Formats: sequence, C-alpha cells, structure tokens
Amino acid sequence: MKRKYYLTTPLYYVNDIPHIGHAYTTIAADVLARYKKMMGFDVYFLTGTDEHGHKIWLAAEDKKETTQKFVDKMAEGFKTAWRTLDIAYDDFLRTTENRHEQVVQAVFSKLMEQGDIYKGEYEGWYCVPCESFWSEMDFIDGKNCPDCGRATEILKEETYFFKLAKYQDKLLKHFEANPDFLQPLSRKNEILQFIKRGLKDLSVTRTAFPWGVGVPGDSKHVVYVWFDALLNYISALGYPDDEKFKQYWPADVQLMGKEIVRFHAVIWPAILMALNIPLPKKIFGHGWWTVEGKKMSKSRGNVVDPLVLSDGFGVDPIRYFLLREVPFGSDGDFSMASFIKRYNSDLANDIGNLLNRTLTMIDLYFQSEIQNSICDTQFDALSIALVGLTKETPKVVDQHMNNLAFAAALAAIWKLINKANKYIEDETPWKMAKAGETVKLQAVMSNLYDVLQTTALLVSPFMPATAESMRLQLGVKGKINKGQPLFPRLQK
Ligand code: ME8
Ligand code: MG
Repeated sequence: MKRKYYLTTPLYYVNDIPHIGHAYTTIAADVLARYKKMMGFDVYFLTGTDEHGHKIWLAAEDKKETTQKFVDKMAEGFKTAWRTLDIAYDDFLRTTENRHEQVVQAVFSKLMEQGDIYKGEYEGWYCVPCESFWSEMDFIDGKNCPDCGRATEILKEETYFFKLAKYQDKLLKHFEANPDFLQPLSRKNEILQFIKRGLKDLSVTRTAFPWGVGVPGDSKHVVYVWFDALLNYISALGYPDDEKFKQYWPADVQLMGKEIVRFHAVIWPAILMALNIPLPKKIFGHGWWTVEGKKMSKSRGNVVDPLVLSDGFGVDPIRYFLLREVPFGSDGDFSMASFIKRYNSDLANDIGNLLNRTLTMIDLYFQSEIQNSICDTQFDALSIALVGLTKETPKVVDQHMNNLAFAAALAAIWKLINKANKYIEDETPWKMAKAGETVKLQAVMSNLYDVLQTTALLVSPFMPATAESMRLQLGVKGKINKGQPLFPRLQK
C-alpha cells in the first residue's frame, strides 16, 4: 500500500487578491505535493479560502456588494491565480461551504456538551482588520494593534469561551515529546515562551456582526473566524465519519507564514486535544516576504501580483525564484533586480545553456541520436566525478525535501548543472570531434544526457512546464528533439 501524505496551506482571507506572499506558501505546498507524488506517496494537498469574519463583512460593505457575491468573486480570483501558477491541489475548501459549516457547528456543540466551551463575558481591545483581541501586555505603541499598527477599539460582549488554559500543560508535554512538531526552531522557542507565560481561555464567538457560522441554538452569536477556519483541515476530509478522514488525518505537514503560527501551534492543537484526535505531525512557519525592502501593503501600493509577473516572465521563474532565493524559514525580499539576476544566471545561463549546448552537440556530432550503452561512460576522472554526482544528487535532494529545505534542494540540483557545464569546458568535446575520438565523444554526450534527464526529473516539482519541455527535447530512446531555449535571456 502507498504511504499517505496530507499537507495543507492556510486558507487565505478573501478580502484581498492573491499576492506573492500567498503564492509563496501555495507554491511551496505544491512543490512538496508534486515531489511526494513522484516518490510514490498517496498525496492529499488542501488549500482554500477563509471567507467569514468582521473584516470580510466590512470589505464587502465597502464595495457595496452582498457579502456572498463578494466572497464568491474573490474566491474565484484565488482559484484563477492557482490555476495560472500551476498549482495542482487536490481540494480547495471555502469556509462558506456547507460541508465545512456543518463540521464547525457539530464541533461547537460537542465541545459545549463536554464543557470545553462555556458562556461568559469578554471585554478587550479589538483590532478589526486582524480579527484579534489584545491585552495590555501585548501593546508596544499606545493601544495600537501590535501586528498592523492600526488603532484598536474596546469591545465588550457576551461570548462563549473555549477552555484553552486547561490544555496548557498537555501542550507543553506534546512539544517536549515531539521535538519536530513545530519548525523552524526559532518559532518553537517563541511559542514555548508564549505558552509558559500562561494561556487564557479564548473567546470563540462574536455578536457585533452577522457574517459567520451561526452558534447552534444561540442565533445572536457567530463563531469566531479563527475557530471556524482552523477546523477546515479536518472538515475538508469529512470529519468525523468519512473514509478520507480516516485515511489522511493526521496531517503530515501544515505550512503557513510565521505570523499565524500562534493560532496553529497553540489554539489548533488544543482544539484537537479537546476533540481527542491526533495532532498534525509537523507545523512549519515560514518567513515573511517584503518587496523592495518594504512591507507589502495595499496602502503602500507595492503589492506584487503573481499574475502580472507571470505574464511578463512565465510561471516557472516565479516558482523557482521564491523557493531558491531564501531558506524556507527565513524572511526574504522580492526585488525586480534580484529576480532578473536569478533568472539570467540560474535559468538562462545555467540550466538553459546546459540543455541547449548539449543538444546542439548531440545534433551536430551524432545526428540527434544518443547512444549510452555501448561505450565506457567513465573513461576519466572528470567523468567518474560527474557520473557519481548524477547518482548522488537525487539522494541529497530527498534529504532536503524531507526537511522542507527547498532552497538547499535547488542548490544541490544546480551544483550538478554547474558541474556539467564545467565538464563541457574541461572535456572540450569539439576537440574530440575534430580528432575523431568518437568513443570518448559519445561517452561525454551520454554523461551529459544523463545529467539532463536527472535534472528534468528533479526540477519537475519546482518547474513542471520546464521539466516537460526538457523531457520533450530529450526525447525517447536516445532520439532527441532540440527545441527553443528554455529561458531566453532578459535585458536589464
Ligand atoms: O491569516 N510573506 O489569511 P491571510 C510570506 N485566513 N507569506 C505571506 C505573506 C508575506 N508577505 N503574506 C501572506 C490568514 N502570506 C487566515 C489563515 S488558516 C486556518 C487561516 C501567506 O490571507 C502566509 O502563508 O492573511 C500567511 O500565513 C498567509 O498568507 C496569511 O494569509
Ligand atoms: Mg494576514
């Protein structure tokens, strides 16, 4: 039987159109999903949209549209973006779907019945755009939201609480017993400190606006958007009774940006503990992208639209750049200069040239036919080294992929590519051709051909269209079909 692999992205708020930040997580998940599928896993890749809550209600009002119409249109925008960016998800969940709302209500009722949710009263400073209550302890600058810097307002309301505090010790024990539960390490330390400072029960309903999942039996309240949204990871599998839930839960990895790790590493596990179901195996909080050194924001007008970018440069260079530029746990900066630089050096020069030069030579010297069985492919030290690296690289890549070290995986692939380019310069096959050293020349071409096949395979999760084009050009049974260069150089 195939081993299963369940992975998720956050569900993105539909008050905004998708930008490269959302694309980043989704592309990373897609790359991982494609890689695991290639390795023979039975993969389930979930993404979707978070459509309830105060700020979405306000955003629709702002546009003078009915909330449902607004969220329908915005969710469509995410689907279009993911289609364009070659995202092959297995499921796209919208929190306004029936299959999800039913689970939210069932969970709410269950936790009420068992006493993990109770009715009380809440008063606190509330940031509408962030959907977050803040306490005195959290403020840095007056009573402004410590996340977005905007003014908070006092909100006092009757509310239902989830008994988060009750799970404090159990959470700490889980972290202790599962050292890889939350990665990278810096986020784990942050969260541990946060838990140790003491958890308070969490307000999980709102009365100030109507746009949410109704609380069963109390129509004044809607369920707090985070409590609602987190449940998507099990509602999408048809919790509790569906076969899919039994097959795929617990998640193998849940990806997200660092700013929402708190929700996923504290509240989410506590809800799962209350439901008495296993926790995800791993939560990964990746870094945050800025654009030309500045925080991306609508008001700054510096939001990078991945669709505009892909129109200009193609989809694969974006997928490549985002995962190559910074290690997955670290923050990154997107600038046109660094994007173009990587495009020209890594894509046009390194991989593009390797394919182009090699196929040109096979065309020229062997009339497009590559024979790799008849000759001794390892006739000298340079060849032995290249053949060795070709065999070694998939193993190195596998280790990095299992650690979600996408940049390191790509660096390992590029080490092979660059070694092959160097091999061409060192072996000078054109001299072999001139001297009539056909056996050696065939060996060199065959070694390069193997590098290209391995490269096509290894880059396929990252750059599916490029890999496909490489495979077409590499042909079958040694008969190549040289085509257009993969990445024409960009003028700066
Ligand atoms: O938080 N850099 O949705 P959201 C890197 N609905 N990643 C970024 C980014 C950036 N500048 N901007 C956004 C929500 N992201 C909730 C989640 S889950 C049950 C509910 C990515 O639309 C990153 O994955 O604000 C981040 O965590 C997510 O988008 C936030 O998306
Ligand atoms: Mg956000």
